[in-house]
Amino acid sequence: MLKIGEISLNNRIIAAPMAGVTDKANRIMARSFGCAMTCSEMISDMGLIYGQKKTQAIADTEGEERPVSLQIFGSHPERMAQAAQIVEKLGADIIDINMGCPTPKIIKNGEGCALMLDLPRSRDILRSVVQGVKIPVTIKMRGGWEDGSKTFLELAGIAEQEGVKAIALHARSRMQFYSGQADWGLIKELKQASSLPIIGNGDIWSAEDAVKMLEITSCDAIMIGRAAMGNPFIFREAVELVEKGIKMPSPTVEERIQAAIRHLELACHFKGEQVAVREMRKHFSWYIKGWPGAAKIRVLINSAQTQTELIQAIRGCAENWVSDLAPALDL
Ligand SMILES: Cc1cc2nc3c(=O)[nH]c(=O)nc-3n(C[C@H](O)[C@H](O)[C@H](O)COP(=O)(O)O)c2cc1C
Repeated sequence: MLKIGEISLNNRIIAAPMAGVTDKANRIMARSFGCAMTCSEMISDMGLIYGQKKTQAIADTEGEERPVSLQIFGSHPERMAQAAQIVEKLGADIIDINMGCPTPKIIKNGEGCALMLDLPRSRDILRSVVQGVKIPVTIKMRGGWEDGSKTFLELAGIAEQEGVKAIALHARSRMQFYSGQADWGLIKELKQASSLPIIGNGDIWSAEDAVKMLEITSCDAIMIGRAAMGNPFIFREAVELVEKGIKMPSPTVEERIQAAIRHLELACHFKGEQVAVREMRKHFSWYIKGWPGAAKIRVLINSAQTQTELIQAIRGCAENWVSDLAPALDL
């Protein structure tokens, strides 16, 4: 089985970090559907150093199944090492360094994917973080800045020299943001060039895609992001198909509703009802994606003020039409 430093993963399916999405409740849901590891959303080095309450809450992993990776971002080697030490103390099993975020507000500070334009700085960051903590350090990067860039190969070499233990590659350039198609050929190239464990990422939308990426690229594990929004079932489906060759049936409507409610309960538990309901509206909209009448349910979801109202929105609407439509939909 795959090992990242001394950390063993019990299968090859990993949940991707997503800002505003992969909070503690989301990570618990993902693990309950079988992925081997989850990762926090990206956490600001300065937020950690200043001890901001909100930042520390993002880094809280108490009670979660292990391993959990905490991802940090920044551009200053010493500050990044300090931030890494803080998340290590807070209970991270692995520290991941964000070298792929394409967002202008991150890039303008020289953070995220901007680090792929400054490899000497990237090396300094990796060196100081790896030397500053005892737990494994990993990186998550893109192909490079421009389409066709091979910077990922250079950065992978640097990472290996500096003691990084695994690399996740989102097979797009920075300039692509999320458009176009991820180029899995980059993952294959990286796997051939590096002796580190390679985690392939980008455009896995189904369990079949997970199998395909592993076959095409020979990567060591795969990471799923957007396809898991409102759909933690994809982890179970991918684990079963990848590890056992078993094709899981699609979740039923009731299973989807149950998962959404469980997710909401967890969010309320960790964040309090008011914040959780506000944040869970988008998750509920994702849970009902593709349902007929979803647009109408979404209006109710977006006006829900309480946990009960959110549950009524998803359950009430579902009850009205599911019995008529579910067979036709193959839900
Ligand atoms: C809403 C959103 C937030 C994201 N936040 C992060 C993040 O905090 N750190 C990171 O490394 N990648 C982040 N990503 C990128 C994902 O981890 C992943 O690389 C990307 O979505 C491609 O994988 P996918 O096709 O499976 O979604 C984010 C993506 C989305 C859609």
